[in-house]
Amino acid sequence: MTDFLAIPKIELHIHLEGAAPPALVRDLAAEQNIHLEGLFDAAGEYASSDFTSFLAAYEEMSKVFAEPASYRALTEAVLEEQAANGVIYTEIFLSPPSLNFDEPAWRDMLAAAEAGADAAEAKHGIACRFIPVIIRHHGPEKARESVEVMLRAPRGRMRGFGMAGDEREFHPRDFARPFAMMREAGFRLTAHAGEFEGPESIRAALDHLHVERLGHGVRAIEDPALVARLVLQQIPLELCPGSNVALGVYPNLAAHPIMQLRGAGCVITVSTDDPPFFHNSMADEYASLSAVHGFAADDFAKLARAALDAAFCEPELRVKLAQSLDGAA
Ligand code: HPA
Ligand code: ZN
Repeated sequence: MTDFLAIPKIELHIHLEGAAPPALVRDLAAEQNIHLEGLFDAAGEYASSDFTSFLAAYEEMSKVFAEPASYRALTEAVLEEQAANGVIYTEIFLSPPSLNFDEPAWRDMLAAAEAGADAAEAKHGIACRFIPVIIRHHGPEKARESVEVMLRAPRGRMRGFGMAGDEREFHPRDFARPFAMMREAGFRLTAHAGEFEGPESIRAALDHLHVERLGHGVRAIEDPALVARLVLQQIPLELCPGSNVALGVYPNLAAHPIMQLRGAGCVITVSTDDPPFFHNSMADEYASLSAVHGFAADDFAKLARAALDAAFCEPELRVKLAQSLDGAA
Protein backbone atom coordinates (compact mmCIF):
# COMPACT_ATOMS: atom_id res chain seq x y z
CA MET A 1 0.00 0.00 0.00
CA THR A 2 1.42 3.34 -1.01
CA ASP A 3 1.50 5.90 1.76
CA PHE A 4 0.33 8.93 -0.23
CA LEU A 5 0.77 11.24 2.76
CA ALA A 6 4.50 10.50 2.89
CA ILE A 7 5.36 11.42 -0.72
CA PRO A 8 7.10 14.84 -0.66
CA LYS A 9 5.00 17.43 -2.47
CA ILE A 10 5.17 20.98 -3.76
CA GLU A 11 1.82 22.79 -3.88
CA LEU A 12 1.57 25.96 -5.97
CA HIS A 13 -2.17 26.67 -6.06
CA ILE A 14 -4.04 26.99 -2.78
CA HIS A 15 -6.07 29.93 -1.48
CA LEU A 16 -5.37 30.80 2.14
CA GLU A 17 -8.93 31.89 2.96
CA GLY A 18 -10.35 29.03 0.85
CA ALA A 19 -8.32 26.55 2.88
CA ALA A 20 -9.66 27.81 6.24
CA PRO A 21 -10.84 24.91 8.43
CA PRO A 22 -14.63 25.27 9.03
CA ALA A 23 -14.06 24.97 12.82
CA LEU A 24 -11.71 27.98 12.79
CA VAL A 25 -14.23 29.98 10.75
CA ARG A 26 -17.02 29.09 13.20
CA ASP A 27 -14.84 30.11 16.19
CA LEU A 28 -13.89 33.44 14.62
CA ALA A 29 -17.52 34.11 13.66
CA ALA A 30 -18.67 33.43 17.24
CA GLU A 31 -15.93 35.64 18.72
CA GLN A 32 -16.85 38.53 16.44
CA ASN A 33 -20.61 38.00 16.56
CA ILE A 34 -20.76 37.50 12.80
CA HIS A 35 -23.72 35.57 11.40
CA LEU A 36 -22.63 33.57 8.34
CA GLU A 37 -25.60 33.24 6.05
CA GLY A 38 -26.03 29.79 4.44
CA LEU A 39 -22.32 28.97 4.65
CA PHE A 40 -22.48 25.57 6.33
CA ASP A 41 -24.49 22.45 5.53
CA ALA A 42 -26.14 20.21 8.14
CA ALA A 43 -22.85 18.38 8.73
CA GLY A 44 -21.03 21.66 9.45
CA GLU A 45 -19.08 21.54 6.17
CA TYR A 46 -18.98 24.37 3.64
CA ALA A 47 -22.00 24.25 1.36
CA SER A 48 -21.52 25.15 -2.31
CA SER A 49 -22.61 23.44 -5.49
CA ASP A 50 -21.31 25.34 -8.50
CA PHE A 51 -18.83 28.09 -9.32
CA THR A 52 -21.24 30.95 -8.65
CA SER A 53 -22.37 29.58 -5.29
CA PHE A 54 -18.75 28.72 -4.41
CA LEU A 55 -17.62 32.31 -5.05
CA ALA A 56 -20.53 33.61 -2.94
CA ALA A 57 -19.70 31.18 -0.09
CA TYR A 58 -16.05 32.23 -0.33
CA GLU A 59 -16.91 35.89 0.16
CA GLU A 60 -19.32 35.12 2.98
CA MET A 61 -16.68 33.02 4.78
CA SER A 62 -13.96 35.65 4.26
CA LYS A 63 -15.91 38.09 6.47
CA VAL A 64 -14.45 36.44 9.58
CA PHE A 65 -10.95 37.37 8.37
CA ALA A 66 -11.62 41.11 8.24
CA GLU A 67 -9.61 41.32 11.47
CA PRO A 68 -5.95 41.21 10.28
CA ALA A 69 -4.69 39.43 13.41
CA SER A 70 -6.79 36.37 12.46
CA TYR A 71 -4.26 35.66 9.69
CA ARG A 72 -1.78 34.25 12.16
CA ALA A 73 -4.00 31.34 13.24
CA LEU A 74 -5.30 30.89 9.70
CA THR A 75 -1.84 30.64 8.14
CA GLU A 76 -0.59 28.28 10.83
CA ALA A 77 -3.63 26.00 10.53
CA VAL A 78 -3.42 25.79 6.73
CA LEU A 79 0.32 25.09 6.71
CA GLU A 80 -0.05 22.46 9.42
CA GLU A 81 -2.60 20.60 7.30
CA GLN A 82 -0.40 20.87 4.20
CA ALA A 83 2.64 19.59 6.12
CA ALA A 84 0.54 16.62 7.34
CA ASN A 85 -0.04 15.88 3.64
CA GLY A 86 3.67 15.76 2.85
CA VAL A 87 3.88 19.26 1.38
CA ILE A 88 7.43 20.59 1.88
CA TYR A 89 6.96 23.87 0.00
CA THR A 90 3.88 25.82 -0.99
CA GLU A 91 2.87 29.08 -2.60
CA ILE A 92 -0.33 30.41 -1.09
CA PHE A 93 -2.73 32.92 -2.61
CA LEU A 94 -3.86 35.74 -0.33
CA SER A 95 -7.04 37.70 -0.95
CA PRO A 96 -7.77 39.28 2.42
CA PRO A 97 -10.88 41.37 3.01
CA SER A 98 -8.47 43.90 4.57
CA LEU A 99 -7.27 44.74 1.06
CA ASN A 100 -9.94 47.39 0.81
CA PHE A 101 -7.37 50.07 0.07
CA ASP A 102 -6.66 50.10 3.77
CA GLU A 103 -2.90 50.12 4.04
CA PRO A 104 -2.58 49.65 7.83
CA ALA A 105 -4.88 46.62 7.67
CA TRP A 106 -2.86 45.14 4.79
CA ARG A 107 0.40 45.60 6.72
CA ASP A 108 -1.09 44.06 9.86
CA MET A 109 -2.53 41.14 7.88
CA LEU A 110 0.81 40.42 6.24
CA ALA A 111 2.67 40.63 9.55
CA ALA A 112 0.20 38.15 11.08
CA ALA A 113 0.49 35.77 8.10
CA GLU A 114 4.30 36.00 8.35
CA ALA A 115 4.16 35.13 12.05
CA GLY A 116 1.93 32.13 11.27
CA ALA A 117 4.31 31.01 8.54
CA ASP A 118 7.33 31.41 10.87
CA ALA A 119 5.59 29.27 13.50
CA ALA A 120 4.58 26.55 11.00
CA GLU A 121 8.03 26.51 9.46
CA ALA A 122 9.63 26.04 12.90
CA LYS A 123 7.13 23.38 14.00
CA HIS A 124 6.54 21.40 10.80
CA GLY A 125 9.49 22.27 8.54
CA ILE A 126 7.21 23.44 5.71
CA ALA A 127 8.41 26.45 3.68
CA CYS A 128 6.02 28.89 2.06
CA ARG A 129 5.81 32.01 -0.05
CA PHE A 130 2.78 34.21 -0.66
CA ILE A 131 1.05 35.35 -3.84
CA PRO A 132 -1.47 38.15 -3.28
CA VAL A 133 -4.33 37.93 -5.78
CA ILE A 134 -6.78 40.52 -7.00
CA ILE A 135 -10.35 39.37 -7.47
CA ARG A 136 -11.42 39.70 -11.08
CA HIS A 137 -15.12 40.30 -10.47
CA HIS A 138 -14.29 43.14 -8.06
CA GLY A 139 -13.11 45.06 -11.11
CA PRO A 140 -10.04 46.96 -12.39
CA GLU A 141 -10.43 50.04 -10.20
CA LYS A 142 -10.14 48.02 -7.02
CA ALA A 143 -7.24 46.04 -8.53
CA ARG A 144 -5.29 49.24 -9.20
CA GLU A 145 -5.83 50.56 -5.70
CA SER A 146 -4.88 47.20 -4.17
CA VAL A 147 -1.64 47.12 -6.12
CA GLU A 148 -0.70 50.58 -4.92
CA VAL A 149 -1.12 49.42 -1.32
CA MET A 150 0.91 46.26 -1.95
CA LEU A 151 3.74 48.18 -3.57
CA ARG A 152 4.07 50.57 -0.63
CA ALA A 153 3.99 47.87 2.06
CA PRO A 154 6.76 45.44 3.11
CA ARG A 155 6.94 42.28 1.00
CA GLY A 156 7.75 39.60 3.53
CA ARG A 157 7.27 36.22 1.84
CA MET A 158 5.41 37.66 -1.15
CA ARG A 159 7.06 36.59 -4.38
CA GLY A 160 4.26 36.55 -6.93
CA PHE A 161 1.08 38.32 -7.92
CA GLY A 162 -2.05 36.92 -9.46
CA MET A 163 -5.74 37.10 -10.17
CA ALA A 164 -8.56 34.82 -9.01
CA GLY A 165 -12.32 35.26 -9.01
CA ASP A 166 -14.93 35.04 -11.73
CA GLU A 167 -13.25 34.53 -15.08
CA ARG A 168 -16.53 35.32 -16.84
CA GLU A 169 -16.36 38.97 -15.70
CA PHE A 170 -14.25 41.74 -17.28
CA HIS A 171 -11.33 41.06 -19.64
CA PRO A 172 -7.62 40.54 -18.90
CA ARG A 173 -6.78 43.78 -20.76
CA ASP A 174 -8.68 45.63 -17.99
CA PHE A 175 -6.01 44.45 -15.55
CA ALA A 176 -2.93 44.91 -17.74
CA ARG A 177 -1.69 47.96 -15.81
CA PRO A 178 -1.68 46.43 -12.29
CA PHE A 179 0.02 43.31 -13.64
CA ALA A 180 2.66 45.43 -15.39
CA MET A 181 3.26 47.44 -12.23
CA MET A 182 3.77 44.30 -10.17
CA ARG A 183 6.03 42.76 -12.80
CA GLU A 184 8.18 45.89 -12.88
CA ALA A 185 8.47 45.66 -9.10
CA GLY A 186 9.88 42.13 -9.41
CA PHE A 187 6.80 40.05 -8.66
CA ARG A 188 6.28 36.87 -10.69
CA LEU A 189 2.89 36.50 -12.36
CA THR A 190 0.10 33.94 -12.56
CA ALA A 191 -3.66 34.17 -13.20
CA HIS A 192 -6.70 31.92 -13.10
CA ALA A 193 -7.75 31.27 -16.70
CA GLY A 194 -9.20 28.37 -18.66
CA GLU A 195 -11.27 27.03 -15.77
CA PHE A 196 -14.76 28.40 -16.44
CA GLU A 197 -13.92 29.95 -19.80
CA GLY A 198 -12.22 28.36 -22.78
CA PRO A 199 -9.03 28.85 -24.80
CA GLU A 200 -9.64 32.52 -25.61
CA SER A 201 -9.54 33.37 -21.92
CA ILE A 202 -6.14 31.68 -21.62
CA ARG A 203 -4.77 33.47 -24.69
CA ALA A 204 -5.98 36.78 -23.29
CA ALA A 205 -4.25 36.14 -19.94
CA LEU A 206 -0.98 35.31 -21.71
CA ASP A 207 -1.18 38.22 -24.14
CA HIS A 208 -2.44 40.98 -21.84
CA LEU A 209 -1.13 40.01 -18.40
CA HIS A 210 2.11 38.27 -19.47
CA VAL A 211 1.62 35.61 -16.84
CA GLU A 212 4.34 33.00 -16.44
CA ARG A 213 2.00 30.31 -15.07
CA LEU A 214 -1.70 29.58 -15.43
CA GLY A 215 -4.12 28.85 -12.60
CA HIS A 216 -5.95 25.79 -13.97
CA GLY A 217 -5.52 26.39 -17.73
CA VAL A 218 -7.14 22.98 -18.28
CA ARG A 219 -9.53 24.11 -20.96
CA ALA A 220 -6.55 24.73 -23.26
CA ILE A 221 -7.20 21.12 -24.24
CA GLU A 222 -10.10 22.36 -26.41
CA ASP A 223 -7.64 24.04 -28.79
CA PRO A 224 -4.62 22.10 -30.12
CA ALA A 225 -2.90 25.29 -31.33
CA LEU A 226 -3.07 26.72 -27.82
CA VAL A 227 -1.73 23.49 -26.33
CA ALA A 228 1.18 23.75 -28.79
CA ARG A 229 1.83 27.31 -27.60
CA LEU A 230 1.81 26.26 -23.93
CA VAL A 231 4.28 23.49 -24.75
CA LEU A 232 6.51 25.79 -26.80
CA GLN A 233 6.55 28.46 -24.09
CA GLN A 234 6.69 25.81 -21.34
CA ILE A 235 3.96 27.62 -19.35
CA PRO A 236 3.36 25.59 -16.17
CA LEU A 237 -0.26 24.68 -15.48
CA GLU A 238 -1.43 24.79 -11.88
CA LEU A 239 -3.87 21.90 -12.29
CA CYS A 240 -6.40 21.24 -9.53
CA PRO A 241 -8.29 18.13 -10.67
CA GLY A 242 -10.35 17.66 -7.48
CA SER A 243 -11.47 21.30 -7.62
CA ASN A 244 -12.49 20.95 -11.28
CA VAL A 245 -14.57 17.85 -10.51
CA ALA A 246 -16.15 19.43 -7.40
CA LEU A 247 -17.19 22.53 -9.38
CA GLY A 248 -18.45 20.50 -12.34
CA VAL A 249 -15.86 21.53 -14.95
CA TYR A 250 -15.50 17.76 -15.56
CA PRO A 251 -17.87 15.03 -14.35
CA ASN A 252 -15.10 12.91 -12.82
CA LEU A 253 -11.31 12.46 -12.73
CA ALA A 254 -11.38 9.97 -15.61
CA ALA A 255 -12.79 12.74 -17.83
CA HIS A 256 -10.21 15.32 -16.65
CA PRO A 257 -7.67 16.16 -19.40
CA ILE A 258 -4.56 15.85 -17.20
CA MET A 259 -3.25 12.87 -19.17
CA GLN A 260 -3.78 14.53 -22.57
CA LEU A 261 -2.08 17.72 -21.38
CA ARG A 262 0.83 15.74 -20.01
CA GLY A 263 1.02 13.59 -23.14
CA ALA A 264 1.16 16.69 -25.33
CA GLY A 265 4.21 17.95 -23.41
CA CYS A 266 2.62 20.58 -21.16
CA VAL A 267 4.29 21.36 -17.85
CA ILE A 268 1.82 20.07 -15.28
CA THR A 269 1.65 20.51 -11.53
CA VAL A 270 -1.08 19.38 -9.12
CA SER A 271 -2.68 21.32 -6.25
CA THR A 272 -5.87 21.35 -4.17
CA ASP A 273 -7.21 24.95 -4.64
CA ASP A 274 -9.64 25.24 -1.65
CA PRO A 275 -9.52 21.89 0.18
CA PRO A 276 -12.34 22.18 2.78
CA PHE A 277 -14.70 23.44 0.06
CA PHE A 278 -13.83 20.62 -2.32
CA HIS A 279 -13.30 17.92 0.34
CA ASN A 280 -9.85 17.09 -0.97
CA SER A 281 -6.24 17.12 0.20
CA MET A 282 -2.90 16.66 -1.55
CA ALA A 283 -2.77 13.04 -0.41
CA ASP A 284 -6.31 12.49 -1.80
CA GLU A 285 -5.28 14.02 -5.12
CA TYR A 286 -2.28 11.70 -5.34
CA ALA A 287 -4.33 8.64 -4.35
CA SER A 288 -6.95 9.48 -7.00
CA LEU A 289 -4.31 10.02 -9.71
CA SER A 290 -2.83 6.65 -8.81
CA ALA A 291 -6.21 4.86 -8.86
CA VAL A 292 -7.70 6.52 -11.95
CA HIS A 293 -4.70 7.42 -14.11
CA GLY A 294 -2.09 4.94 -12.88
CA PHE A 295 0.33 7.50 -11.45
CA ALA A 296 3.32 5.80 -9.81
CA ALA A 297 6.35 6.96 -7.80
CA ASP A 298 8.24 8.38 -10.79
CA ASP A 299 5.15 10.31 -11.95
CA PHE A 300 4.82 11.90 -8.50
CA ALA A 301 8.55 12.70 -8.45
CA LYS A 302 8.15 14.44 -11.83
CA LEU A 303 5.15 16.43 -10.56
CA ALA A 304 7.15 17.70 -7.59
CA ARG A 305 10.17 18.53 -9.74
CA ALA A 306 8.02 20.41 -12.28
CA ALA A 307 6.35 22.37 -9.48
CA LEU A 308 9.71 23.23 -7.96
CA ASP A 309 11.02 24.45 -11.32
CA ALA A 310 7.85 26.56 -11.71
CA ALA A 311 8.04 27.97 -8.17
CA PHE A 312 8.51 31.70 -7.67
CA CYS A 313 10.86 31.29 -4.71
CA GLU A 314 14.45 32.54 -4.59
CA PRO A 315 17.19 30.29 -6.07
CA GLU A 316 18.78 29.38 -2.70
CA LEU A 317 15.51 27.92 -1.44
CA ARG A 318 14.96 26.06 -4.72
CA VAL A 319 18.35 24.37 -4.35
CA LYS A 320 17.57 23.38 -0.77
CA LEU A 321 14.17 21.97 -1.74
CA ALA A 322 15.69 20.06 -4.68
CA GLN A 323 18.02 18.37 -2.21
CA SER A 324 15.05 17.39 -0.04
CA LEU A 325 13.24 15.92 -3.06
CA ASP A 326 16.37 14.07 -4.22
CA GLY A 327 16.99 12.78 -0.72
CA ALA A 328 13.48 11.33 -0.63
CA ALA A 329 13.76 9.63 -4.03
N1 HPA B 1 -11.32 29.96 -9.38
C1 HPA B 1 -11.47 31.27 -9.27
N2 HPA B 1 -11.38 31.91 -8.12
C2 HPA B 1 -11.12 31.21 -7.03
C3 HPA B 1 -10.95 29.84 -7.09
C4 HPA B 1 -11.06 29.18 -8.33
O1 HPA B 1 -10.90 27.95 -8.48
N3 HPA B 1 -10.68 29.43 -5.82
C5 HPA B 1 -10.72 30.54 -5.02
N4 HPA B 1 -10.98 31.61 -5.77
ZN1 ZN C 1 -7.79 28.80 -7.44
